[in-house]
Amino acid sequence: MIDLRSDTVTRPTPAMRAAMAAAEVGDDGYGDDPSVNALERKAADMLGKEAALLLPTGTMGNITAVFAQTGRGDEVLVESTAHIYRTEQGGMASLAGVPYRVLPGVRGAVPFERLQSEIAGSGYSTRLHPALLCLETTHNAAGGTVLPLDYLAAVRALATEHGIAVHIDGARVFNAAIALGVPVAEIAQHADTITFCLSKGLGAPVGSVLCGPEAVIRRARQTRKMLGGTMRQSGVLAAAGLVALDTMVGRLADDHRRANHLAAGLQAIHPSLCETPETNIVYVDLAPSSLSAPEWCQRLGTAGITCKPYSATQVRLLTHADISDADIEAALAAFQSIWPAKQSRAA
Ligand SMILES: Cc1ncc(COP(=O)(O)O)c(C=O)c1O
Repeated sequence: MIDLRSDTVTRPTPAMRAAMAAAEVGDDGYGDDPSVNALERKAADMLGKEAALLLPTGTMGNITAVFAQTGRGDEVLVESTAHIYRTEQGGMASLAGVPYRVLPGVRGAVPFERLQSEIAGSGYSTRLHPALLCLETTHNAAGGTVLPLDYLAAVRALATEHGIAVHIDGARVFNAAIALGVPVAEIAQHADTITFCLSKGLGAPVGSVLCGPEAVIRRARQTRKMLGGTMRQSGVLAAAGLVALDTMVGRLADDHRRANHLAAGLQAIHPSLCETPETNIVYVDLAPSSLSAPEWCQRLGTAGITCKPYSATQVRLLTHADISDADIEAALAAFQSIWPAKQSRAA
């Protein structure tokens, strides 16, 4: 099967498996797993931050960042389709106890003027203090869109002026860096804290890393413990993460190229099926067809393509390390083969 459901479905590379087997380990609960320490140091250096913390998932990284940078009487500002708001089970409110102010975005970005007016309106003693602004790049629900560097710089300056910390949910920030053609630190410099996932496009089996100032990461370490995320000989996972950082970043450009080719092929079938992606995520809007998204997925499944409905009419497709050029051609052939049948049904 050609699995286009997500870039989380990648399996560890042979080099990762070899590194995992040979990993030097210790008890990370005591801070003495050398592989974890090496991964955290490397991640912090790559992102240009003082310190880093390995966590089991991106969700735990995000909630940990919220815990570490907010308290009672604070609120979090977040874009309305952000993963941290829509998909992380309300953890900010239910676990961290911090309410959020949800703001509409355009392609994953809250317009700067809107942010300005929201923040300006917060300066009354009776209001909650917006302590943290959460951004997401690449933005999953917006279609893998990339926040521009000048937007990030302007937003960070605004936030800093008002004493608001900035957290980037950078689950796919390496995709953003590749798309922008800059080192990932150029993105991360515009945030106080940033999480990225080893287990998505970078292909490692497990793990996300929260990077930020030493003092924040110290608090985050306590939160990770509270949430049950302190692992033990997690060097086995960190070893794969190190290989991911060493070998899997540059190749993300291939995923972007393939997503682009996939989108172009779909647009050739029907121009409004999808937008041209900036990175590795293609949302296919099958509204022009008479089949629902679940029906499409079922038929594509029969043709060897695994995908999941995203809504009644939408299917989300992701390219990743286990998808080749030939797989993209096969996926396009499958779409093409189902399309005429659907057209005649519509007629
Ligand atoms: C943008 C974004 N943030 C965070 C996460 C959460 O990552 P995890 O599944 O490791 O909890 C995801 C997962 O898909 C994501 O797409």
